[in-house]
Amino acid sequence: MKKEPTHLHLNPLYLPCLLISLLSLLRPITGDGRARAVQVTCSPLLEHNATVYVPNFVATMEKISQQVQTTGFGVALTGTGPDANYGLAQCYGDLTLNDCVLCYAEARTILPQCYPQNGGRIFLDGCFMRAENYSFYNEFKGPEDNVVCGNTTRKKDSTFGDSVRRAVKNAVGEAPGNGGYARASANAGESESSAFALANCWRNLSPESCKECLENASATMVKECLPWSEGRALHTGCFLRYSDQDFLNQIPRNGRSKGSVVVIVVSVLSSVVVFMVGIAIGVYICKHRTIQKKRRGSVDVEKMAKTLTDSSLNFKYSTLEKATGSFDNANKLGQGGFGTVYKGVLSDGRDIAVKRLFFNNRHRATDFYNEVNIISSVEHKNLVRLLGCSCSGPESLLVYEYLQNKSLDRFIFDANRGKTLNWQRRFLIIVGTAEGLVYLHEQSTVKIIHRDIKASNILLDSKLQAKIADFGLARSFQDDKSHISTAIAGTLGYMAPEYLAHGQLTEKVDVYSFGVLVLEIVTGKQNTKSKMSDYSDSLITEAWKHFQSGELEEIYDPNMNWKNQDDSVIIKNEILRVVQIGLLCTQEIASLRPSMSKVLHMLKNKEETLPLPSNPPFMDERVMEFRDTSDGDSAACASLATVSQSSFYGR
Ligand SMILES: *[C@@H]1O[C@H](CO)[C@@H](O)[C@H](O)[C@H]1NC(C)=O
Ligand SMILES: *[C@@H]1O[C@H](CO)[C@@H](O)[C@H](O)[C@H]1NC(C)=O
Ligand SMILES: *[C@@H]1O[C@H](CO)[C@@H](O)[C@H](O)[C@H]1NC(C)=O
Ligand SMILES: *[C@@H]1O[C@H](CO)[C@@H](O)[C@H](O)[C@H]1NC(C)=O
Repeated sequence: MKKEPTHLHLNPLYLPCLLISLLSLLRPITGDGRARAVQVTCSPLLEHNATVYVPNFVATMEKISQQVQTTGFGVALTGTGPDANYGLAQCYGDLTLNDCVLCYAEARTILPQCYPQNGGRIFLDGCFMRAENYSFYNEFKGPEDNVVCGNTTRKKDSTFGDSVRRAVKNAVGEAPGNGGYARASANAGESESSAFALANCWRNLSPESCKECLENASATMVKECLPWSEGRALHTGCFLRYSDQDFLNQIPRNGRSKGSVVVIVVSVLSSVVVFMVGIAIGVYICKHRTIQKKRRGSVDVEKMAKTLTDSSLNFKYSTLEKATGSFDNANKLGQGGFGTVYKGVLSDGRDIAVKRLFFNNRHRATDFYNEVNIISSVEHKNLVRLLGCSCSGPESLLVYEYLQNKSLDRFIFDANRGKTLNWQRRFLIIVGTAEGLVYLHEQSTVKIIHRDIKASNILLDSKLQAKIADFGLARSFQDDKSHISTAIAGTLGYMAPEYLAHGQLTEKVDVYSFGVLVLEIVTGKQNTKSKMSDYSDSLITEAWKHFQSGELEEIYDPNMNWKNQDDSVIIKNEILRVVQIGLLCTQEIASLRPSMSKVLHMLKNKEETLPLPSNPPFMDERVMEFRDTSDGDSAACASLATVSQSSFYGR
């Protein structure tokens, strides 16, 4: 019954768009894209018991995280029996500790995609991670060993092959005696034929195993990839790469410097899981009635838990099980990384959407209560209603109102469904979203910053009206006096630069994401996908350039069908105006971005002259001046809070 391992070559069909956005955004952050995933391979077997497996997995990731932050390597074991979790992560030797932490965060974000398979491995350009339910620490070869040839520019120059062979040979020769890591370069006199190589074994392997792994890897890689300009060997015990480009980090690695400066950003990236986890454990804890005191803030969790159990927010597990046909696959609306959403029908005929979460973490109880409490108290025509949750059953479930047309991304990024949304409809969606945000920021009893505005979180009702979903990230802002939020959340690609780099959380973070969304709606292109690997060619940059050159029409989504309408000139100007508003929202300098109520005003008063936008952020190392939190470790704990990068309905 052995299933073939699944290979995911970063195919957007297989991985959520979130992943792609992470990858493309990380590229500039780490200088040369060393957090780029090369391949994910999931183990063939399914987990044995999710209730046991999931917390084990999460705990292992946490433990490794701490080791990686100080040494660039980590192994950890959690649990026993069939759902034990053995993990290993390693950064390649040339990475700085900062880049290492980012790379690990990325690995940790992606690997849970393998669930419900019970393990998997991921190779990135800067690090490796693997998790299984058995001890694999001595393994260094196996049927999963693989070679991925990169840039398919065939090198005409035959001397390149010689350079590659020499560089690889040197690196492979040196690594086993050098803690498993070596780099090398070679050229045949002309820079044209320079080759760069990196060899790295996992640190737990003996020099003999390392040698054997690398020798086999290099032979296979050279044989299969030359004369291509890039080659990578992804073997069980080692990673090997050559390239005609110098991809190696120039700064020698400094072993034990503090990783705290990047902790904030790490938490952005690494804690994707954590939010969902939080909800799940919240429920778990709620079940056992042993509720932790809330660390900070005014809410008495215990009381809230009781209220929840007694209140109409509480759904019986059996009710929801019945409503969804025991979570029948036929009722599945989508699968995100960390939760699956099912359609359900209650006995009174009401349609609901049930989000079934599968991660657990005992520290996140408060987040769960916060979410349920906040969301249930917020009501607005442009906000998706949370109807309640299931606290008492064996699993954690959130119950939302069901929206027939699911999410906006299904329309605007789809060549056929996109036709359903002409310009007028899109405009109404933009206005509706703005109204929802104005409500969250300025009109609800607690000020709520959503933090994760994006196309997949905008749902459409039967009349194609926009409703903002997934307040998982919404938090009461009022008692968060520090402008460094205790939890960075959001989806890269939609995240404002000051939030990404410094964790500065203001409403302007939502304004920025809203601006990105507006540009996506108008162009029908996804910000982070417009060119897979190069952030400098992001949609925002593209829109900005076209705006400046007065050629915006070129990037309008033809699906809006604006040209064929009688009043096409008026429409054209209306679209232009909306793009300009989008660009005002995505200005690099947060203080220049308008508030949401100002945005709404500008959308509705079409005669008013708009200010000219200044430039959007061009992501480069400049924005990655991380804030150095001097008391890094406690900040790290605090900041490892809620992040959800999975979309509401997933993919
Ligand atoms: C999974 O494990 C939990 C905790 O040990 C146990 O209560 C539960 O019955 C198990 N579920 C299955 C399906 O075996
Ligand atoms: C790993 O998980 C599989 C499937 O759940 C199980 O059959 C196997 O026995 C587990 N391995 C160990 C070492 O427990
Ligand atoms: C492939 O390599 C060539 C030179 O070797 C380079 O000019 C080109 O930009 C590379 N393409 C990609 C997609 O990396
Ligand atoms: C590498 O090892 C595999 C088995 O582990 C073997 O089949 C293959 O021939 C080896 N390749 C080379 C080039 O030595």
